[in-house]
Amino acid sequence: MVKFNENYLNVKQSYLFSEIAKRVEKFTKENPDKKVIRLGIGDVTLPLSKSVIESLHEAVTEMGDAKTFRGYGPEQGYDFLRNAIKDYYKRNGVEIEADEIFVSDGAKSDTGNITDLFDINNTVLVPDPVYPVYVDTNTMNGRKIIYMDANSDNDFLPLPDESIKADMIYLCSPNNPTGAAYNKDQLKLWVDYAIKNNAVILYDAAYEAFIEDETLPRSIFSIEGAKKCCVEFCSLSKTAGFTGTRCGYTIVPKAITAKASDGTQMSLNQMWNRRQTTKFNGVSYIIQRGAAAAFSVEGMNEAKAMINTYKENAKIIADTMDRMGVKYYGGINSPYIWFECPFGMNSWDFFDKMLSEIYVVGTPGAGFGKNGENFFRLTSFNNKENTLEAMKRFETLFK
Ligand SMILES: Cc1ncc(COP(=O)(O)O)c(C=O)c1O
Repeated sequence: MVKFNENYLNVKQSYLFSEIAKRVEKFTKENPDKKVIRLGIGDVTLPLSKSVIESLHEAVTEMGDAKTFRGYGPEQGYDFLRNAIKDYYKRNGVEIEADEIFVSDGAKSDTGNITDLFDINNTVLVPDPVYPVYVDTNTMNGRKIIYMDANSDNDFLPLPDESIKADMIYLCSPNNPTGAAYNKDQLKLWVDYAIKNNAVILYDAAYEAFIEDETLPRSIFSIEGAKKCCVEFCSLSKTAGFTGTRCGYTIVPKAITAKASDGTQMSLNQMWNRRQTTKFNGVSYIIQRGAAAAFSVEGMNEAKAMINTYKENAKIIADTMDRMGVKYYGGINSPYIWFECPFGMNSWDFFDKMLSEIYVVGTPGAGFGKNGENFFRLTSFNNKENTLEAMKRFETLFK
């Protein structure tokens, strides 16, 4: 008799966005005259940039001509894109080899799929609150997960604790949901911990393009020693508006090795290459051409302009929090503003208050872990007019 993977019984139901949708739908049905403003979901709203669109069009034309048509491409990504990513890192002061870069359909798949490379008996360390994919994918595999508290005592940036022994460590900076970003000294502590404990850091840099403080690291590989112990995931989703277009990449340095129980030296880069060539047939040529255009100097300037638009919204939200005396995190190097729910409320009660009194939708922090219980996330992914209106209404909560 077939047996299913019973670890799935341990994966928590994800009520967060369905519960939000249910409550918003009920409210709009009962109050059809009220204009609801959504600052909840972390999805971009601006269209793809000019150079990306031009490149996509050209690639579509190539696919319609027998002379330039392409079938299966390299599973790891075309050289033109791997080199464009390599150059992008170089411009940011980080040297990566092209064969350490693996193109994919996004950071969500890769942060989940990377678990294939690790033994079931490793202990996984994740922050709380957390982007749920790290927890759910390891639960599906049956790995032991331990949580480290991210809270206002550590500015939502937990640091290594030598009394905790972990093998796989997930870090996300700038962070979803808290918007907090590690500095170089803090990341160095993590890299040192990983080297000392023979651990691997799985570093999610999906929001690196939002970093404006030039002293903050945009890649874990700007930290000395990181190539020995870190894998970095990144994505064009938030960098260049690719959430619906789908393209990301993972950097697996060749220096990450470990000895198997029989003494064989194993290389994580070779294993990921093997995994991808077996289970993945690459990202479409058309999309990779669009992605390469996003990494060009012109494409990155356009991406920056898009990000600046979101940043202006983030500033509108952050300025409102300042005026209302609400303590918040993020908003400067991140599209997210994470704040303590006013009036001592818990996050779902505050969600209901926002929806029923000012018709603004956000995300209750409780959906990201126990430390989010009294926190709330707003995103800058809307237009300026709506953000201004939402914040004008937000101020009325305090009158
Ligand atoms: C922290 C983090 N990592 C990864 C992703 C997924 O990115 P992608 O669209 O590339 O799959 C998201 C998306 O919201 C995210 O917030």
